[in-house]
Amino acid sequence: MPLQTLESDKDNYWWKKAVFYQIYPRSFQDSNFDGVGDLKGIISRLDYLNDGTTNSLGVDAIWFSPFFKSPEFDYGYDIVDYCDIDPRYGTLADFDRLLEEAHRRNIMVVLDLVVNHTSYLHPWFLESRSSRDNAKRDWYVWKDGKGRKRKPPNNWRTHFFGSAWTWDEKTQQYYLHSFLKEQPDLNWYNPEVREAVGDVIHFWLGRGVDGFRLDVAHHYCKDRQFRNNPPFFIRDRGLDKTRLSDRTLMANIMKLLALPTMQYGKYNQHQPETHQVLKEFRHIFDSYQAKTSVGEILGDDAALVASYYGEKNDELHMNFYFELANCRWKAGAFRRCIERWERNLPENAWPAQTFSNHDLVRAISRYDHGGNGDKRARLLMLILLTLRGTPFIYYGEEIAMKEVKLAKNQLKDPVGVKWYPVHRGRDGCRTPMQWDDSNYAGFSNSAPWLPVGSELSRRSVAAQQNDPNSQFSLVRELIRLRKSLPALLEGSYSSVTEGVSADCFCYLRETDQQKIMVCVNFSFRRQNADPGSLNGESRIIFSTEPERELEIINFPLTLEPGEGCIIDLSMAK
Ligand code: GLC
Repeated sequence: MPLQTLESDKDNYWWKKAVFYQIYPRSFQDSNFDGVGDLKGIISRLDYLNDGTTNSLGVDAIWFSPFFKSPEFDYGYDIVDYCDIDPRYGTLADFDRLLEEAHRRNIMVVLDLVVNHTSYLHPWFLESRSSRDNAKRDWYVWKDGKGRKRKPPNNWRTHFFGSAWTWDEKTQQYYLHSFLKEQPDLNWYNPEVREAVGDVIHFWLGRGVDGFRLDVAHHYCKDRQFRNNPPFFIRDRGLDKTRLSDRTLMANIMKLLALPTMQYGKYNQHQPETHQVLKEFRHIFDSYQAKTSVGEILGDDAALVASYYGEKNDELHMNFYFELANCRWKAGAFRRCIERWERNLPENAWPAQTFSNHDLVRAISRYDHGGNGDKRARLLMLILLTLRGTPFIYYGEEIAMKEVKLAKNQLKDPVGVKWYPVHRGRDGCRTPMQWDDSNYAGFSNSAPWLPVGSELSRRSVAAQQNDPNSQFSLVRELIRLRKSLPALLEGSYSSVTEGVSADCFCYLRETDQQKIMVCVNFSFRRQNADPGSLNGESRIIFSTEPERELEIINFPLTLEPGEGCIIDLSMAK
């Protein structure tokens, strides 16, 4: 199975072996000191990511959040030119150099494909809204108002609160936007739209990029009849209680208050026709060598999310299951979530795993109850880098960067700006990368677009790079281990519950030749793990606790409070 695919075509399947690193370009490195990160800045930091030696982090691929031309109402997720770089970040020539420099270091480059919507200033939309009979009118979703009062066509709401319909005075119709009104949704039933986006994909793949992350791909096609979405509570009645308890308290409250959309997106998301679009994309990817795609498919229904791999594995190459980032800090919640995902994945489907990104509160802060964030961040990295599937690290996660608490007047994200304090927006996880403890954390020489975090003498690359007990050293070592252990790279996954306390999350990763067990103690108490079927000697090859001797052990294994271990069971019978 996975072994065969990996072995049979090493190059085509590089993405199964890779460790990905997400860069939010505005915040990684500023080279021209305007307070905003840029491509030249990123180039100057590539050695940090992978210089081919064990000094560097050792990641193999970067996913870049968008740096295309954009008025930045949603910070790059509203694009006016898909085939050019925004001048804030550089030029196409800078991009070509970035690509070349990345490839020289064996780092693959994956871009963000944001095509559920464009910017309202995109020439396509400007044409579309210019008159009802414009040739591009049908490239977007236009509808008449309802009744004499010309009310919005239906009850669909945006993810950023409020109606998903905005009235256009000039042409006297509504247009649809699933996010901001400055982000009109494209009409994916229009073949010309599909062709135009296909051209964009060809443009970048032809230039040498290695794949795409597909922004909100479950949103592309909408119900052809534009039926009203049902209110949230109708669906919640059917919700499985165990799943509800797996969510963080905040997620529960949001769900119960039915924020932010107050409705279940039955008719404006996850429409069957979207699968055809993804098949067409896949066809384009497959016409090149060794390209990949990873979907941002939001939803708690694992079977539905998994369906985006396609029945014949002919849609996404990889897909996230974001419920993993919604789990409460309970071993059982993590285990059940992974099992649910694994159970629902079609044969040969390759998962993508992540705990943090530019839309989520940084995991280290999400799980910081009682000041335990740092310890838990170590465990999260252990889990991320030992699960089956490709791990995605969010910039700064490797140095235990925390969510930064911002005051109202410091917010930039439109969600926070509009809804503070109900919602503080997403700026707290997008602050500048913390390179050192200088004024602006080594990110820039002038005031950055968002303030830098605190504790720079501890939470920075400079402070951690040469400290063997730092988060950086832990992540670097885990990346190295993952690459050296076939069971972690390509082995099967199975949970271990027998003889294991409910406070521990234990699992096996196995190939024919190698058997690795990962054991994570989620509690404040010492715990024993004694999986009865595993007799004989085993070797602890990694622990999140710096004091732990890496030794040959006999079960039961004793785990210190908040400790996680990797154990090589290949010696056990
Ligand atoms: C995705 C992006 C998010 C953006 C939204 C609209 O969810 O991750 O940052 O705001 O799409 O494009």
